[in-house]
Amino acid sequence: MYVPKRVVTNDDLAQTLDTSDEWIRSRTGIARRHIAGEHESSAQMAIEAAQAALQVADANPREISLIVVGTTTPDYVFPSTACQVQNALGAVHAGAFDLSAACSGFVYALSTAHQAIASGEHDLVLVIGVDTLSRRLNWQDRGTCVLFGDGAGAVLLRAAEGPSGVLATVLGADGSGGDVLIIPASGCARSLTPEALAENLHTIHMNGQEVYRFATRVLASATEQVVKKAGLTMDEVDVIVPHQANLRIVETAAKRLKMPMERFVTNLDEYGNTSAGSIPIALCEAIAQGRIKPGSNIVMVGFGAGLTW
Ligand code: UT7
Repeated sequence: MYVPKRVVTNDDLAQTLDTSDEWIRSRTGIARRHIAGEHESSAQMAIEAAQAALQVADANPREISLIVVGTTTPDYVFPSTACQVQNALGAVHAGAFDLSAACSGFVYALSTAHQAIASGEHDLVLVIGVDTLSRRLNWQDRGTCVLFGDGAGAVLLRAAEGPSGVLATVLGADGSGGDVLIIPASGCARSLTPEALAENLHTIHMNGQEVYRFATRVLASATEQVVKKAGLTMDEVDVIVPHQANLRIVETAAKRLKMPMERFVTNLDEYGNTSAGSIPIALCEAIAQGRIKPGSNIVMVGFGAGLTW
């Protein structure tokens, strides 16, 4: 994983915004977030995380045959972030592409990588979730800017026999909810005109309560579905690594699932919502803390714009 060095606390935000540490903490569980500096970007963070993953896996980048990067904040429209990673690593035998599923980007990318391996087509696949949403925030909008941070996480999947690895995946989408979490301008529909810039249409627009309702519903239902599909019971799940959007969303889902909060990995206090980076960052930390070990049954569950889950 990689997060920018620069830390912005709730108190820092309260200096320029009508908000408070108390409000942000009690409504979201967030205390700090890491924000990319001028020379940091999604590609740079993705490369750092990928290099760390290669080191942990003791793998050679020349062995990688596919790179999938879940991101909605690529450095450029093209070339893709994945191609920048491919070049920086010297992954000369890899195909590479970005995948757009907002905060669900990592779980979508992981599922895609799993299928690529299961088909027999690929042996070693690099999967990255990364976002630099700080560049897409309206820093005057207290309803959104306090929620997000920047960061990247990476995993390597290697083909292997046996019951280990990805046991089951469930992907979902509901495009009818596209407008509840949207960046209205800078795509083909609405160009980045001076007027659009002045209206901050290149930044995140969100109906927080709608997203909240959607998130608590799908976090619980997608978890139940995938556990069932894997042939397991909820009691056999050791750890759940949910998308880190709001601690209250995780707590509500935990209640619905009748699972104790101790089984959920949360790190919102330190990073806020890092979008596609959030699940792999939480995964890395849980492994480092010894909460996930070989043989653990884990569920990774994301949700985000699209809507996707
Ligand atoms: O990856 C998915 C990304 N998005 C999410 O996960 C967002 C999901 N939604 C949420 O997490 C919550 O809806 C929020 C944290 C965004 C908002 O919490 P809420 O409890 O739903 O608050 P609200 O929108 O109902 O607003 C309550 C009040 C409003 O003031 P009035 O109209 O009651 O006077 C807001 O203006 O809180 C105000 N408010 C704030 N006050 C201080 C909104 N943001 C802030 C803030 N500081 N940062």
